[in-house]
Amino acid sequence: MSEKVLEKLNEQLNFEYLSAWSYKAMEIFAADYDLKGFEHWFAKQAQEEVEHAEKMKAFLLEVDYKPTLTDIKAPKNDFSTIEEAVKEACEHEKEVTRRINEIAKLAYDEDERRVFSFIQWYIDEQVEEEDNFRYLLTRLERAKDNWGALYILDSELSRR
Ligand code: FEO
Repeated sequence: MSEKVLEKLNEQLNFEYLSAWSYKAMEIFAADYDLKGFEHWFAKQAQEEVEHAEKMKAFLLEVDYKPTLTDIKAPKNDFSTIEEAVKEACEHEKEVTRRINEIAKLAYDEDERRVFSFIQWYIDEQVEEEDNFRYLLTRLERAKDNWGALYILDSELSRR
């Protein structure tokens, strides 16, 4: 199989862990900000990111490529508001989509059909990921400094 494509997938596996790490930092920020719903929501999101990484790990092992874990850059830990954290998460997900699309393009160009097929799941998943964060950001932008609206949203998020 194309080493170049597998290396790129391994790079993304590490990026998925970085995503988990970033959302863990947002979970802690939300907890410290006394927003239990956001805390719960980010915790779930971090778990999902680990699942994304694990799925890549399993695939790489199945095609007889040993995944390598690299350093994980420290995430941003402090935000001025919860809206700023969610905005940062939105940008992060756009970057994930860009990277996933890059893998799909490389797999296609290298005629690596198994990876091309495997990565389709992530392409679909990114539609949902971006939509989830966009939804949250829109709600926060509308709530502005209205703590009542913020607490309603916080309570909804605790049911994720
Ligand atoms: Fe695994 Fe949120 O992308």
